[in-house]
Amino acid sequence: MNSDRIRFQNYKDKVISAHQAAGFFKDKMVIGSSGFTKAGDSKAVLPAFALRAEHENIGITLITGASLGHTTDADLARSNALYKRMPFQVDPVMRGKINSGDILFIDQHLSETAELLENKHLPKLDFAIIEAAYIDENGNIIPTTSVGNSATFAHLADQIIIEINTSIPFEFKGIHDIFIPDAYPHRNPIHITTSDERIGSDVIAINPEKVVGIVFTEIPDSPAQTAAPDVKTTAIANHLLAFFEKEIQSGRLTNSLMPLQAGIGKVANAVMSGLAKGNFENLVMYSEVLQDSTFELIDTGKMTFASASSITVSEDCYKHILKHFDNYKDKIILRPQNISNAAEVIRRLGIIAINTAIEFDIYGNVNSTHISGTKMMNGIGGSGDFARNAYLSIFVTQSSSKEFNAISHVLPMVSHVDHTEHDVDILVTEQGLADLRGLAPRERARVIIQNCAHPEYRDQLQDYFERACLRGGHTPHLLEESFLFHTRYTETGSMKQNCLVTY
Ligand code: COA
Repeated sequence: MNSDRIRFQNYKDKVISAHQAAGFFKDKMVIGSSGFTKAGDSKAVLPAFALRAEHENIGITLITGASLGHTTDADLARSNALYKRMPFQVDPVMRGKINSGDILFIDQHLSETAELLENKHLPKLDFAIIEAAYIDENGNIIPTTSVGNSATFAHLADQIIIEINTSIPFEFKGIHDIFIPDAYPHRNPIHITTSDERIGSDVIAINPEKVVGIVFTEIPDSPAQTAAPDVKTTAIANHLLAFFEKEIQSGRLTNSLMPLQAGIGKVANAVMSGLAKGNFENLVMYSEVLQDSTFELIDTGKMTFASASSITVSEDCYKHILKHFDNYKDKIILRPQNISNAAEVIRRLGIIAINTAIEFDIYGNVNSTHISGTKMMNGIGGSGDFARNAYLSIFVTQSSSKEFNAISHVLPMVSHVDHTEHDVDILVTEQGLADLRGLAPRERARVIIQNCAHPEYRDQLQDYFERACLRGGHTPHLLEESFLFHTRYTETGSMKQNCLVTY
């Protein structure tokens, strides 16, 4: 069985334990590891390194595709195994260490990491850890449920450790499309003109001499946590679906829409699932993560093709995919994240991008990363790659949260900006949808307050806006009051004015 997984003779004596592999790392080394939104991550070597760091004063810089699964990020954070982490994470323990300043975090557009490494804007990689389904006769890697930054890591690292995951079927060969863009200054176009176009190889080609160890695992990816649609996510999905119907009636879209990108989370998943009910056909995705809703849409025949960088689905969905893999194999592609998220391709294909905001302001600026302007949540992920370049850039969030609607997600000014007003076309909450296309800031504010704010916050926002307008300006503000909602929440536990302490 295991010999089927290593088909390159020269690697046969390279099999080692995870413990041995983790022993290669030295203090302050830079490690690039596969793993993108919990898919295709290191399940043996990084956890073994976290164990080692429990008893040793040693730390590394860890670069991945995106978030890791299981408890790996938490274990690494707890054992102080990391000096620096990039470009994305979703783990509460890691988040705590980042926000206390114990781990330095670089929050990066997911398309950029590979570019920065290739162009030597980041330190050189000492090791790459790459999860593989198997190794072919030429020593090349057949990736698993994600591609992420693996091809770039393998290309640039001094040494490579391969984690062969025996839970991945051999049939996965063929769903990947590995392409590394040419070096500057002579870069050619990335020739993707449709979501299903292949431009590369179905294996990650590596220099066999760099391989220093092969570790076996059989641990599957940790499943995505899915939440059943609730009143709010269903309302958001319905507003958006009604908007798409109107765009079709006006002739700006057909019922195939445009290639779709959907961010992680329950709202985006609910919107995508909602498409199954509408009068849509021949939908395609050009996204970064294939979620449960992607496979539901393929099953209903509404979606014909989906391109991304990873498959991150629930346990049931994963079992379903494996059982019916033949149905999906020619309908999906996994690409490197600097290709799935390439500005050039997103602009060419005309993507409809749907991502989630933590908060947005009355002029359309969006915060997707920082709680109250300072505490990191997860990171910008791919939302910026898509929002800036999309045909339609849509952000969704609930209008309020916590008991008694203590938090308004629509604010006078966002406490941190990830997506500027210039990049945002449509905002949606469960209250309604604001179509910002063609609107100047003062027009935007009226529509956002009226359509998206929670009714308990509308007067407060309207009052701020009207008093700001009296003072004048292209984008009127009362700077001394812009963050009053946030400071009031910290001081009183609610953003509501009637909880106002005297300022
Ligand atoms: N002060 C304190 N807490 C606040 C707050 C504030 N000013 N504003 C929001 N929050 C809280 C909310 O109350 C909520 O807390 P809760 O979970 O305890 O209720 C939390 O912040 C936000 O959670 P929620 O609204 O449930 O967010 P989500 O799970 O839908 O995730 C993002 C939203 C923005 C964090 C997530 O989508 C993300 O990380 N996006 C960036 C990456 C990305 O978009 N990638 C896209 C390509 S995959």
